[in-house]
Amino acid sequence: MTPSAGEAASDLRDVVIGPLDLAARVDEALAVQAQAFGLSDEEVAVRRHIVVRHMASPGARALGATLGGGRLVGFVYGMPNDRAQWWSTVVEPYLRRTGNDEWLDDSFIITELHVLPAYQHRRIGRRLITTLTDEVTQPRSILSAVDTESPARALYRKLGYHDLARRVMFPSAPCPYAVMGAPLPLRR
Ligand SMILES: CC(C)(COP(=O)(O)OP(=O)(O)OC[C@H]1O[C@@H](n2cnc3c(N)ncnc32)[C@H](O)[C@@H]1OP(=O)(O)O)[C@@H](O)C(=O)NCCC(=O)NCCS
Repeated sequence: MTPSAGEAASDLRDVVIGPLDLAARVDEALAVQAQAFGLSDEEVAVRRHIVVRHMASPGARALGATLGGGRLVGFVYGMPNDRAQWWSTVVEPYLRRTGNDEWLDDSFIITELHVLPAYQHRRIGRRLITTLTDEVTQPRSILSAVDTESPARALYRKLGYHDLARRVMFPSAPCPYAVMGAPLPLRR
């Protein structure tokens, strides 16, 4: 059910950012991602396996934004980068070309960050990503985002992320991505 703007605004007082058992709540999280980012049913099925595998990897952590009744309206997750993982192997040649591949070491990747459309632009995304990265021991963070001037890219820049490589093509994606990196803790 989609809340009206008024309902969303009043619900906002109750939004709590806290630990999320993402492997257990993967279907709810992917429903948020599907609405926020747009995912087909096939993509949801593929992502379900990837998310569960990611959450079993060392140092993986997730936070959720939930309403008083427990409804999930946003989530973030990430893990320490491992150069052997698929994402890292795809972006490495691009970062090497721009002289930025040392960002793959000792770095925490933000793998996903999504907020339901009715709850966007109310600082939930910012709270999710800053709270998650405040808890990690790595001195820096990296991520990839669709290479266009989106709210996501605007948010990341405000938090101190800058472009490490652009026009990065992932084999399964139809459009290019930018890889961005920021020192931790993120800028407020
Ligand atoms: C990116 C996303 C998670 C941000 O979450 P959010 O809760 O809306 O973000 P916040 O309210 O914390 O916004 C922080 C900043 O993001 C930018 N921003 C957020 N919504 C925006 C919008 N609709 N238009 C322009 N900028 C926007 C602004 O720079 C904002 O800063 P400000 O509050 O100083 O204006 C959310 O927009 C989203 O889920 N988008 C779709 C999915 C997606 O693209 N995920 C990222 C994949 S890389």
